[in-house]
Amino acid sequence: MNNDLHILTVKEIVTQNFQTAAIFEKYSLDFCCRGGKTIEQACAEKGLDAASIINELSAVSAGAAADYSRFTEWPLDFLSMYIIINHHTYVRNVLPTLFAHTQKVSTVHGANHPEVVKIAEIFDRVAADLQKHMQMEEQILFPYIRQLLDAQQGKRMLTRAPFGSIVNPIRTMEEEHQVSGDDMYEIRRLSSDYVPPEDSCMTYRISFQELQEFERDLHQHVHLENNILFPKAIQLEEELFAKN
Ligand SMILES: [Fe+2]
Repeated sequence: MNNDLHILTVKEIVTQNFQTAAIFEKYSLDFCCRGGKTIEQACAEKGLDAASIINELSAVSAGAAADYSRFTEWPLDFLSMYIIINHHTYVRNVLPTLFAHTQKVSTVHGANHPEVVKIAEIFDRVAADLQKHMQMEEQILFPYIRQLLDAQQGKRMLTRAPFGSIVNPIRTMEEEHQVSGDDMYEIRRLSSDYVPPEDSCMTYRISFQELQEFERDLHQHVHLENNILFPKAIQLEEELFAKN
C-alpha cells in the first residue's frame, strides 16, 4: 500500500478512498483543483513531511472501506443528483448566514483586524460566483449528462449539444472551481487557518468555523465533479459518438 501511495496522485488516492480526504484537509493539501501531484510533490511545496503523511494515509487505507468509496460506482445521473441535493443545497442554505456574519465582523472589527474586511470582500465574490456556477451546472451541464445516459440506454437519439463537446463546458466549470478554490485558500491564509484572535467576539469565532466548514464542503463537492463526474462524462460522450 505504501508503494501505491508513492506512485498515485493526491486526487487518485482520494478517489480510491474518500476517507483519506480528511487527512489531506488536515494538512491543507489540495485534492480537487490541484490534486494532480504525488504526495511527495505536494508536501515538498508546503514543507511537510511526506513520510509521516503516507503513514497516516496507510492506516486509513488499511481500515474498513467506508460508504464514501462507492462514489466511483454510482451512475452519473445519481451522482449529479447527489451533488445538487447534498452540496448545492448546502451552499445555497449557508450563503445568507455566512454573508451576514462576514459582513458584520468586517464592520465591527475591520478597524482592528483589516484582514476581516478582505475576507468579507472575497467571500462576497465566492458567493456570487458559486451561485452562477451551480445554475450553469444544473441547467446545462447535468441535463446534458442525463441526455447522454438516455442515449446510451436507447431512450433518445444522440445529438451534438449547442456547446459542441462536453469538454468545453467542463473546462469552464473546472476553471471556475479553481477560482473559488483559490479564493477560499486566500481566506484560509488571511484567517491564519481559521484561528480567531484572542479578543474576538462570538460572531467572529462562529464565522471562522462556518468558513472552514464551507471550504471543507467545497473541496468534497469539487472533488466529486473534477475527479469523478467530469472524467466519466467525457468518456461516456467519447464512447457514444465513436459508435455513431
Ligand atoms: Fe461545480
